[in-house]
Amino acid sequence: MKRILTGLKPSGELTLGSLIGAIKQCVSYQKDYESIIFVPDLHAITVEQDPKELKMRIKKNVALYLACGIDPEKNIIFLQSENVYHANLSWILECNTYMGEASRMTQFKDKSSKKENVSVGLFTYPILMAADILLYDADYVPVGIDQKQHVELARDIANRINNRYGNIFKVPEPLIPEVGAKIMDLQEPTKKMSKSSDNYKGTILLLDSEKDIRKKIASAVTDSEGKVYFDKENKPGISNLLTIYSCLSNLSIEEVEDKFKDYNYGNLKKEVADIVVEKLTEIQTKYENIINSNMIDEVLDKGKNLSIKMAQAKYEKLKEKVGLTR
Ligand code: TYM
Repeated sequence: MKRILTGLKPSGELTLGSLIGAIKQCVSYQKDYESIIFVPDLHAITVEQDPKELKMRIKKNVALYLACGIDPEKNIIFLQSENVYHANLSWILECNTYMGEASRMTQFKDKSSKKENVSVGLFTYPILMAADILLYDADYVPVGIDQKQHVELARDIANRINNRYGNIFKVPEPLIPEVGAKIMDLQEPTKKMSKSSDNYKGTILLLDSEKDIRKKIASAVTDSEGKVYFDKENKPGISNLLTIYSCLSNLSIEEVEDKFKDYNYGNLKKEVADIVVEKLTEIQTKYENIINSNMIDEVLDKGKNLSIKMAQAKYEKLKEKVGLTR
């Protein structure tokens, strides 16, 4: 059976973008694939975190995975920092990655240009991500478009290691949704909706209240044309709203365009808000039952043991081939 693997870092609250770009894909693939979803907490500390908040967000991430429909019977769910093989493998991979290729990562260029004290971890972050993927022989990695370049780096590293040391790693492929690979910020619809955004009004969090969701969507930036149709270039705000509706209703963009063709922007926003509220309320109700239950620890304990077994076998195999042995 083919295997999928993904992770959402707990560096901020999960957003509608996280749900549509990654979690929703995992939920729909989990019946056909062996599935692994983890919390990349080591990735979160590449930028400064408040330890108490980080601890809380780790728990929240797991509760949200489950509340969004990730089935603990069908998925291995674990915490990255509880499995030492991720950081160990990452080191060997770093020694097989060129400065040039790591320097080409656009997310690093973008993030580091906005900060003064950039950690080395932020630079090597995609290599740790490659370790996450390669340890488990993942066939597919469900991600939004912003992570595509990182999965491609993981492929390049896997191919290099396979050429140098024999066939060790499966070469993974990114799995990017046709619609919803990049949900945009509601206030700046040419930018990705991001959990680390300073613009609170542009991002819908999975745990936002109904009032906040409605307010944020009502004040989403649109354009002055007054006609509803999909045109990413010239109508990024309206196209983003149509995309959100399409992803949550499982209607195609064409069907959604047709449904709303005679609507004004106010009415369109109202219907988009209705469906977002409906979906997120469902998730939040489940979340409330999970967040204070034993379920999170049970799931993480089970996932920790399983993931360590799988990762250890792969790591030991490479270690031996590299000559790190007596
Ligand atoms: P992260 O935590 O930034 O985002 C988690 C996932 O959500 C997707 N995503 C979006 N998709 C569509 N529209 C958006 N606005 C949006 N915002 C986020 C991201 O593409 C991602 O799939 N490096 C990864 C975490 C990671 C990982 C891994 C992922 C660590 N190791 C191994 C896959 C496999 C990250 O920072 O994603």
